[in-house]
Amino acid sequence: MTQNFIPYGKQDISEEDIDSVLKVLKSDFLTQGPQVPLFEKTVAGYCGAEYGVAVNSATSALHVACLALGLGEGDWLWTTPNTFVASANCGLYCGAKVDFVDIDMQSYNLSVEKLEEKLIQAKKSDKLPKIVIPVHFAGQSCDMKRIHSLSLEYGFKVIEDASHAIGGKYLGKPIGGCQYYDITECSFHPVKIITTADGGLATTKCQKLYKKVHRLRSHCITREVEGMVLPSDG
Ligand SMILES: Cc1ncc(COP(=O)(O)O)c(C=O)c1O
Repeated sequence: MTQNFIPYGKQDISEEDIDSVLKVLKSDFLTQGPQVPLFEKTVAGYCGAEYGVAVNSATSALHVACLALGLGEGDWLWTTPNTFVASANCGLYCGAKVDFVDIDMQSYNLSVEKLEEKLIQAKKSDKLPKIVIPVHFAGQSCDMKRIHSLSLEYGFKVIEDASHAIGGKYLGKPIGGCQYYDITECSFHPVKIITTADGGLATTKCQKLYKKVHRLRSHCITREVEGMVLPSDG
């Protein structure tokens, strides 16, 4: 019996893609080789961010981004309920508490009005979030300018979950350029816009954050490989 389900995802892999993978398989490095910084530079450059750090998934990118921003026990992380669980779990991995800001019924993104209301209440009870993670649902950007101004007023950091949104634009500029946020992460899982089979990447404009994320990615181990520029201690 044939069943006609709508596929959950369908990737488009060209012969050129396969040849590139074979080249790596036949090279000296199956992981952490020179293709990694090349990929990081290409994606960060496309997004308009100075730095990129590739990891095995967007879940890991969210986790290292939270660690790099100092999230820990007793802190609050807020995100949207209309997302994949990874946007919230990254807070739990750091021992933080997680809460949700309701969505806007037009865009299905985190509502800036609801965020402001929640911040006013949280300030009164001294429970302001350390990190807020807006998610660009289905490639449509959140109102990052307004979220940024609230972050300055209430003193929280912003990680932009752009798992669905690489290639999208906000105010005419590519998502991921970190104009209004500290770190952006995107996913290369096969149901996303572009895929590396599995994978994630964090972009940032801040050299200090880049060094932190890079060191967390590699267990603080550094090694010199021809063609790779590794960040020094920071
Ligand atoms: C919004 C969002 N954030 C994070 C993730 C996690 O991505 P990954 O599978 O690369 O860990 C997903 C995956 O579906 C997602 O949709």
